[in-house]
Amino acid sequence: MTAAVHKVAVIGGDGIGPEVTAEALRVVRAAGVALDTTEFDLGAARYLHDGEVLSEDTLAELRGFDAILLGAIGPALGDTRIPGGTLERGLLLRLRFALDLYINLRPFTGAPGSIAQGADFVVIRENTEGTYAGEGGFLRKGTPHEVATQGSVNTRFGVERCVRFAFELASRRPAKHLTLVHKTNVLTFSGDLWQRTVDAVRAEFPEVEVDYNHVDAACIYLVERPSRYDVIVTDNLFGDILTDLAGAVSGGIGYAASANLNPSKTGPSLFEPVHGAAHDIAGQAIANPLAAISSAALMVEDLGLSDAAARISAAVTVEIASTQPNQARRSTAAVADAVIERLR
Ligand code: IPM
Ligand code: MN
Repeated sequence: MTAAVHKVAVIGGDGIGPEVTAEALRVVRAAGVALDTTEFDLGAARYLHDGEVLSEDTLAELRGFDAILLGAIGPALGDTRIPGGTLERGLLLRLRFALDLYINLRPFTGAPGSIAQGADFVVIRENTEGTYAGEGGFLRKGTPHEVATQGSVNTRFGVERCVRFAFELASRRPAKHLTLVHKTNVLTFSGDLWQRTVDAVRAEFPEVEVDYNHVDAACIYLVERPSRYDVIVTDNLFGDILTDLAGAVSGGIGYAASANLNPSKTGPSLFEPVHGAAHDIAGQAIANPLAAISSAALMVEDLGLSDAAARISAAVTVEIASTQPNQARRSTAAVADAVIERLR
């Protein structure tokens, strides 16, 4: 029997993106997963080259793949040739919205020696609405009486499908615990909708214990006792901020992986490390590929290969556990080799 070949679109992107993505693909193949990859040249470099951010044709082509693996997108710090938001809104958020990647799943396992050592939790971030929806605008722009508004869009449909996904995930995890994080004491409209949705959906999951934290308090808890969390469900902007904090307390953003999921599987999902392009260390073969490798493991899981995904994740966990704080810096490829070596 020949194993199925999975069609993966690879957007290496900018800076260290292509370096870490190449190593992640090498690990996936070493785990026995057959991939047919197609590279897409997108990101800051491509935009500066010919002005393309993401054309309709490219988007249509991407829809035909089983998954998209993305490295990192963005210009070097201080490079002012690309107006802020061009790539964020035009490429990354466009992919999230157009492909209806409504779940941003970010798992965290506290690395040995990190604040979150012993903690193991997942943040489920709503990925298509909230303040990211782009609602708002200017009035009298550039005048002393200028007005800028930026609304938060929360639909019952969008909140409910996110909340239900989080409950389903919590019900499959040993701790069966879910925390809604919001700011219901101040955001009395959107917060109310989120809280009522959680209250309604929880009836379908009586086995899941439910908690609520205000987002500011959650920042304290994430630093003081992150092990209280199992599944966190939250809106787009709170999720963006909380997952950077969660990455920092779990051993650094160099380990943080993410999956942008379309759980209804009407198209490909997108997998990317949480970190950025890190142009300052690009081209030196010293970028840590572990976040990209863990993101690729999430992709392998989404492709239906749970066994291979678990083997890759376990190898990464062992690799992180055996990394000494004072260990000499290894090359990107050497870290990937060490993970491959640990595949069982
Ligand atoms: C992330 C990033 C993006 C976000 C940016 C680059 C648009 O910070 O994936 O967390 O805000 O979602
Ligand atoms: Mn972010």
